[in-house]
Amino acid sequence: MMTSSDNTQAILWEGDHLRLLDQRLLPQRVVYLDITDVKTAADAITDMVVRGAPAIGITAAYAIVLAAGQRYREDAANWRSLIESDLQYLAASRPTAINLFWAIGRMRERMASLSANPVNVLLDEAIAIHEEDIAANKKMGELGAALINANAGVLTHCNAGALATGGYGTALGVIRSASAAGKLRQVYADETRPWLQGARLTAWELLQDHIPVTLIVEGAAAALMQTGAVQWFIVGSDRIAANGDVANKIGTYAGAILAKHHGLKVMVVAPTSTIDMNVASGADIPIEARDGAEILSLNKQVVAAEGSGAWNPVFDVTPAALIDAIVTEKGVVERPDAAKMAALMAS
Ligand code: MRU
Repeated sequence: MMTSSDNTQAILWEGDHLRLLDQRLLPQRVVYLDITDVKTAADAITDMVVRGAPAIGITAAYAIVLAAGQRYREDAANWRSLIESDLQYLAASRPTAINLFWAIGRMRERMASLSANPVNVLLDEAIAIHEEDIAANKKMGELGAALINANAGVLTHCNAGALATGGYGTALGVIRSASAAGKLRQVYADETRPWLQGARLTAWELLQDHIPVTLIVEGAAAALMQTGAVQWFIVGSDRIAANGDVANKIGTYAGAILAKHHGLKVMVVAPTSTIDMNVASGADIPIEARDGAEILSLNKQVVAAEGSGAWNPVFDVTPAALIDAIVTEKGVVERPDAAKMAALMAS
């Protein structure tokens, strides 16, 4: 029988293959998919079986273990050149989460020195990436919770929880730690159209841990803030630029503007694997646009008037000037800018 913490494990390695919790089916059904090849793993990322920046990176690392085994069996002398097309296929699975490219880069570096059967060494590296992510989340949980005063109300957006990471979560890691410290009066979650990560995943995940949660539609965020019920807007990130601009789920930027207008503080919680020092500002972050059909329908039922067009960018960029704190496993950057981000990354 599964315990609640088993339930929120998005990614498992089962001896010789990957198991992914199919997040498209939550919360109605808890179904794991057994994945034995790199192409299926990459398609699972594209199709939102697994999602959330750190979880995408960890999945890619395990997918490279599958690819290496496959290519080594195919041709032991040339597996390193054969695997290149697999790495490219994986890299094309989703464009915004830098953790995907960070994990591919780290696995590629590990590969460079290998000549014998690469599977065990690469598996150790993938497990290290997975375990380091959980440890980073726990550290960020502590650091972020320390910023929150007692009796606080918090609002989160999308799902930046155990489901989106190796475990524990980034934004939800802070909420878990603050809740355990008895600091939270109420947690609110945006429903997060069109994939409903807030309604389906964040609410479910918090309830598994017996943390009460109240859902709102994004359109209610301003009215909620106007009541004075929330003091913090807490989110994760898919990519943070060198100047502290933050790409995250579409609607984060709107939430941050509303937060500033109403005197709330904005906290972004993300491991340093999410920081991309190669992009100077948010303007250079590639923003994924998905099929407009995702917003013309709800639960596969068409809801829009026939003939409507649709614009479906799934991330936006919140300028650093709207952010009070970026919480990483290496420390907290308050009121981020390029110099502070560089100092963090050099530390
Ligand atoms: O489209 P998704 O569900 O992959 O988007 C996820 C988010 O926007 C998360 O906030 C982000 O990846 C951080 S997850 C710790």
